[in-house]
Order: sequence, then C-alpha cells, then structure tokens
Amino acid sequence: MNYHIAVIPGDGIGPEIVREACKVLDKVGEVFGHQFSYEEVLMGGCSIDAHGVPLTDEALETAKKSDSVLLGAVGGDVGNSRWYDVAPNLRPEAGLLAIRKGLHLFANIRPAYLYRELADACPLKKEIIGDGFDMVIMRELTGGLYFGERHTEIVDGLRTAVDTLTYNEEEIRRIAVKAFDIAMKRRKSVISVDKANVLDSSRLWRKVVEEVAKDYPEVELRHMLVDNCAMQLVMNPGQFDVILTENMFGDILSDEASMITGSIGMLSSASMNESKFGLYEPSHGSAPDIAGKDIANPIATILSAAMMLRYSFDLDREADAVEKAVQQVLTEGFRTNDIYSEGCTRVGCAAMGDCIAERICG
Ligand code: IPM
Ligand code: MG
Repeated sequence: MNYHIAVIPGDGIGPEIVREACKVLDKVGEVFGHQFSYEEVLMGGCSIDAHGVPLTDEALETAKKSDSVLLGAVGGDVGNSRWYDVAPNLRPEAGLLAIRKGLHLFANIRPAYLYRELADACPLKKEIIGDGFDMVIMRELTGGLYFGERHTEIVDGLRTAVDTLTYNEEEIRRIAVKAFDIAMKRRKSVISVDKANVLDSSRLWRKVVEEVAKDYPEVELRHMLVDNCAMQLVMNPGQFDVILTENMFGDILSDEASMITGSIGMLSSASMNESKFGLYEPSHGSAPDIAGKDIANPIATILSAAMMLRYSFDLDREADAVEKAVQQVLTEGFRTNDIYSEGCTRVGCAAMGDCIAERICG
C-alpha cells in the first residue's frame, strides 16, 4: 500500500526528530512492503519566517488531503525570539491550535508507560513505582479555555484579561466515547478528571460522562478532581488506566505523567477526528536550547509514528514492530542524554534512529 504523509518538521528539535521517525517508517516500508511518501508542510516559526503567518491556508489544505500528518514541534524561546514580538494569533503555537481545530482533531491520546529499563530515570521512589504503570490520557483538544473567547481590556482603570471555558454536551460526549472505546481494549477503567466542585463546565462534563458510561457496563468509571489527580499521579500512578479530561487539565496532567516515565522525550501522542485521520506528534515541545546538537531524544516521535501505523492505517503488526524495536534498543542499553544512566551507551538523536530502524523486523 502507498500512504501519503504530510510531514511538519516545525522548529527547534522538530526537524531532527521527524527525520528519525521517517527513517524508521522507511524501514517499516522496506520490511513489510509498504510505500510511505512525504510532503513537507511549514508550520510555526519557520512558516512565520517564510510567509508571515504560522500556518497558511495552503499548508492546512495539504495536511487535509494527506492520509495522515506527522509533526515534530513548533515554537521558539519565548523570551528571546522575534516570533513572539507579534499578536498572539500570529505566534508559532497559534499554528498548532489552528491545525488542530482545522482538522477537527478533538481527541488527543497520550500514553504514559514506564519501561522497566527506565525505572532509574523515573523521579519517583521504588515503593511508589511498584510494578510500574501503563496509562493513557484522553485529552479533549479543540474546546475549553484554548478556544473560548478571550480579550484584554481596561475595566475601572485596571488592565483586565478574560479567557472563557466553554463546553457543550456534544463536545463532551464524543471525547467520552473515545475514552470508553479505548478502555474496552485495555483494562476497562476510566477515571474522568474535572473540577466539579467549582466549575459549571465540569459539572456538565460529569453528567455527560455518566450518560456515556451507561453504554459501557463493563467499564468501571470513577471521577477525580483535577488537583487530587495531580497528587495521585505521583503517589499511586499504577491505579490509572484511561484518564479522560478536558483540554487544559489534559495539557498539564500529560506533562506530569510524561515526567514520571523518566523523560518527556518518551511520550508519544495522537490527535484524531471522528474518522481514522490523525496528527501524530511527540508530547514535548521544540526544545530550542538543544536544537541542532544531535542530542534530542527521537523516541517520542518514533512512537508517535507507530501510533499512526496502528490508528490511521490499521497496520498493527507494523506498529508492534516499531514498539518492539524501541523496547529492544532500551534493553540493549542505548540511551539519549535525557534518559542516560550509568553503564548505558550514550547515543545522539540520529544514532538512536539508526538503532531503532536496524531492529525493525517482520
Ligand atoms: C501540548 C503543548 C501545546 C498545548 C502548546 C504548545 C500550545 O503544550 O501539545 O501539550 O498546550 O496544547
Ligand atoms: Mg503541553
């Protein structure tokens, strides 16, 4: 089969990690007899430099027409880059929000899994790690505070900023359905995270999630307040299977969950719409401080490519092969800087990509 992938290298370490993911995809193609073709799309700071905007209509069209999208990362050093001397809707991150909205990617799936080999890089105590953890965060991605009306004005002589958090029941229902569907393929447990003791949007969230749960009698549903969830993640991470939550809470909790896997450089993500179409990107940012030094960890991007194979192309065997190769490389002791511990072999970004690609087998 031939798959046409829109590739968005983006800024910072984006181009180097995406290069490694394509290297691995090419090896998958070779071993399993598929053809992956790539069309490069500009987004973020590099698009601002070329076109004055973080995402052009043409770029969005190219992404829409593709079979799926692979993204590195966008953005630069906020305090130190000309990309931020403009209105917020013209900054690099606005491109990311525009493509999420433009492609209707409301379901953001972020798995957080502790590889045994990386237990030393996990900042939690051994007794808390226990048998490890394997969770998926299902984050709503096109609603809430990120897309509500916002403005800054002078009220009674004071600079006043307003951001609005809005959800309608349909937006809540469709992401809840995705969470329960994925729970059915896992350990059949959903913890829905909200702030229902304060927010109306959370109270509606809870009601709608309970309605959806009625269609999934096999799945156990619990509700958890977001502040408690932040605490539980570092106290008892093993209790989580699927975490279902709204956009902003999911943004924060997924960074926390990624850190306890040892490094944010390990966390992949898929952003899907109603169909099988998706955008796949690491959960981490563009890390401008280490860009171009060949020390970034490409694993999150490579694992995101594996999610693409599984969720968009239904290539389960191929996705398994990529995940197995990553596992094998870690078992053999290869580590990028961020996950390095004594006795391991330190490798750069490109060498890590080579190691993984070499171990892909059918
Ligand atoms: C993420 C990022 C983005 C977000 C930023 C870059 C806008 O933090 O994908 O988690 O907040 O969604
Ligand atoms: Mg984030």
